[in-house]
Amino acid sequence: MIFSREFRVRTVAASILVATLGVMALAGCQGGGKAVLKVGEYGSMTGGQANFGISTHEGIQQAVDEQNAAGGIAGIPVEVTKYDDQSKAEEAQTAVQKLVNQDGVISVLGEVASSNSLAGGPVCQRAGVPMISPSSTNERVTKVGDFIFRVCFIDPFQGNVMAKFARENLKLSNVAILKDLKSDYSVGLTDVFAKSFAAAGGKIAVIQTFSKDDQDFRAQLTSIKATNPDGIFIPAYYTEVGLIARQAREQGITAPLFGTDGWESSKLTEIGGKALDGCYFSTHQSMDNPDPLVQNFVKGYEAKWGKKPDALAALGYDSAKLLMSCLTELAKQDPEGFKALQGNATPVNRDARKAAQKKLRDLIAATKDFAGVTGKISLDADRNAVKSAVVLKIKDSAFSFATSIQP
Ligand code: PHE
Repeated sequence: MIFSREFRVRTVAASILVATLGVMALAGCQGGGKAVLKVGEYGSMTGGQANFGISTHEGIQQAVDEQNAAGGIAGIPVEVTKYDDQSKAEEAQTAVQKLVNQDGVISVLGEVASSNSLAGGPVCQRAGVPMISPSSTNERVTKVGDFIFRVCFIDPFQGNVMAKFARENLKLSNVAILKDLKSDYSVGLTDVFAKSFAAAGGKIAVIQTFSKDDQDFRAQLTSIKATNPDGIFIPAYYTEVGLIARQAREQGITAPLFGTDGWESSKLTEIGGKALDGCYFSTHQSMDNPDPLVQNFVKGYEAKWGKKPDALAALGYDSAKLLMSCLTELAKQDPEGFKALQGNATPVNRDARKAAQKKLRDLIAATKDFAGVTGKISLDADRNAVKSAVVLKIKDSAFSFATSIQP
């Protein structure tokens, strides 16, 4: 048989099309990419807060791997795209821009440090991409807009917890504060603590300041020592706190130091060692809590990562679990919308994706009594979790449960 050239070209083109469609169908192709649910993550994997990002990522990856091992979400696997923001707010903003504009993620998990979440949040809000911070506690973080959530408590609560603990448990009456001027977290907590401690009848001896990444705190400690405080409140991150503790003891300051969740890291005592014995900090969960939910998480984490988890890992885990539970619900309630979230964004599915992300936002906002490793998570009208805090005591480089304080 003799075919015209035109016919042959058309036949070849048609078979290429059929073959391509077949491959796409096999791969479960949706909206111009393979059928995965892309979730973004930004965090500090390097820099002064590297441990925050590393722990958080391990918790997130554990949750995602567990979900995928159990068949994904309605059969679709979840994939995490992660960027290191080097513990810097400018890099945090760039990272979220990449996740949202270039990678087209459905939703973003992060950051830990409040200043970084305050830099990344507006990018998500403008794009209509739901963001869940595992652990940023500064009150302003979720005020950025209605697409910004968190699974942890906020600093107006945490600052009160430590003021109450300082007055009632440690029986302190004259406290000095050392705060990081470059950190929204540190500045916010200083205000709350100072007000609350004074309201409880205590006196603030002096407030001294430093800047993130400083290494020499001797001048501030000399001024603090001159006011003869019976305790020093340091709402800051582990790297600086470890150095401050050592330098304080070198200067003969014996008063207890106490602080907040930014202390939470195994690096804290690697840096501060013995200088931190008898010190206290507030955080989100004790890994010694006998609750089976906590102990199952601890076991899974140890098996996967070969070390003990911290509260950051638990919060990362909870943030990913909550997001995936809302995606599971979305798949049930709106299968078409769920389909639009799979794979990459294309000009064709753009509007459907936006609508589905809005629905996902509504589902997250409605979170009530979600059973997290860090406690029951219910989100209030400001998209903050209302949860209790624990206070841990440091002794011989180990953290042990001291008390728990309800909202
Ligand atoms: N809450 C801290 C912040 O907002 C971050 C943090 C959370 C650090 C939990 C350690 C543990 O900046």
